[in-house]
Amino acid sequence: MAKVSSKQSGGRLIVVANRLPAKRVRKGRSWVWETSPGGLVSALHPLLRERGGAWVGWDGTSGGRAVKPFDHDGFRIHPVHVTKDELDKFYAGFSNRTLWPLYHDALRAPEFHRRWWWPYVEVNQRYADAAIGIMGKKDTVWVQDYQLQLAPAMIRAKRPGARIGFFLHTPFPPEELFAKMPWRRQVLEGLLGADVIGFQDKLSAMNFIRTAQRFTAAKRHEQGLLYNGRTVIADAFPISIDVSRYQDLAMDPEIVVASERFRAAWDHRPIILGVDRLDYTKGIDIRLRAFEEVLRRGTISAKDAVMIQIAVPTRQSVDDYAELRDTVEQYVGRINGTYAMTDFIAVHYVYRSLPIRELIACYLAADVMMVTPFRDGMNLVAKEYVVTRTRDTGVLVLSEFAGAASELNDALLVNPHDIDGMANMIEHALELDAAERKKRMRALRKRVESHTVHDWSDSFMTRLAGE
Ligand code: G6P
Repeated sequence: MAKVSSKQSGGRLIVVANRLPAKRVRKGRSWVWETSPGGLVSALHPLLRERGGAWVGWDGTSGGRAVKPFDHDGFRIHPVHVTKDELDKFYAGFSNRTLWPLYHDALRAPEFHRRWWWPYVEVNQRYADAAIGIMGKKDTVWVQDYQLQLAPAMIRAKRPGARIGFFLHTPFPPEELFAKMPWRRQVLEGLLGADVIGFQDKLSAMNFIRTAQRFTAAKRHEQGLLYNGRTVIADAFPISIDVSRYQDLAMDPEIVVASERFRAAWDHRPIILGVDRLDYTKGIDIRLRAFEEVLRRGTISAKDAVMIQIAVPTRQSVDDYAELRDTVEQYVGRINGTYAMTDFIAVHYVYRSLPIRELIACYLAADVMMVTPFRDGMNLVAKEYVVTRTRDTGVLVLSEFAGAASELNDALLVNPHDIDGMANMIEHALELDAAERKKRMRALRKRVESHTVHDWSDSFMTRLAGE
């Protein structure tokens, strides 16, 4: 449970995030709101319940009328309505075809269109107005992520004395990439409306500090920047997971049995697992090719190991995602066509989101977990796998370009651009001796256990309270 100091508990907390922490689902003949699973929701729920407060976010619809505010799970929900056209331009366009690729090493060419920029401004203003409308004098606002980078300054314009925090869940790019964006100054000034800007790692915080000095009037100051007579802290606050929730599930006898059933279904072959949103940042395509290379070398065959790839559907309205799906499915087909045996499949591919209990059974069954994004703000799958290894078995292969790599340096670190190197690492991971596995996994598990998602939100709120 998060600790809330007296100073922090002075006012209520207003969270502003693109999505609400609850989804409308059909139950029989009526619609009900169900809390969404996920790290951010589990981190902020206890804070919201203890301090009182509200969550401002998209109501999940794009037609019809806006959903009215309501109480849910101990706090207030303020839905923001976004039209179908705005969703295309603000969400699919500017957020996911301009900012997302730009902030992830330009893995796809970011597109810059004024017709997307203006809806981004307008929708940010709507979220900011919703927060302003419900803020009391002492309340603290915490804005989340790249979809809402203008909101901090928009809120500051109407509430100059407010405590405003911002957290970026993605990386913040190096200056030379960020400089390409025609609205770079406006985005930076939007962020500078906050008192504390949190990043996943030091590199992102430094990129931001350097870029803000170049394109705005901000000046370097000991903890971050000085801007308009205010101190703006820019620092690393690595996000984490709800460790006890995952560990409780990992010890749930039903889930343990399910994982054993799972292993038996795969003839007790070593399982190499990947679990990702089907996003081009995640390196799923290269991971498959690295496994293909191992099979081509003949060091192992399909009867010696199986690769299981869970690909969670995401942002299907953006073309790059549909193309990636085709590529991944072609690779799976090609690898199985070439290397599967009549009785042993080489790659098992699932394009679906798994319920958490099934997901944990997969983690428990996996001998090798491959988390190999080309670029990732943090990557919580790596942390989830590690904390469910309560007996310190299993091997984590982790990309050096995931934010998680700066904490999880006892993993087998790989460069996801190097197919041969990745193939070598798969072979190495399968052969790693038990003592070495145990030593590494124990160190990884201890590391994640010592910094949970509650420590993350607590350390951010403490800095924001000025303590
Ligand atoms: C990433 C982003 C989050 C986003 C999530 C799901 O983790 O950092 O802001 O919520 O992807 O993406 P979606 O587009 O479905 O909201």
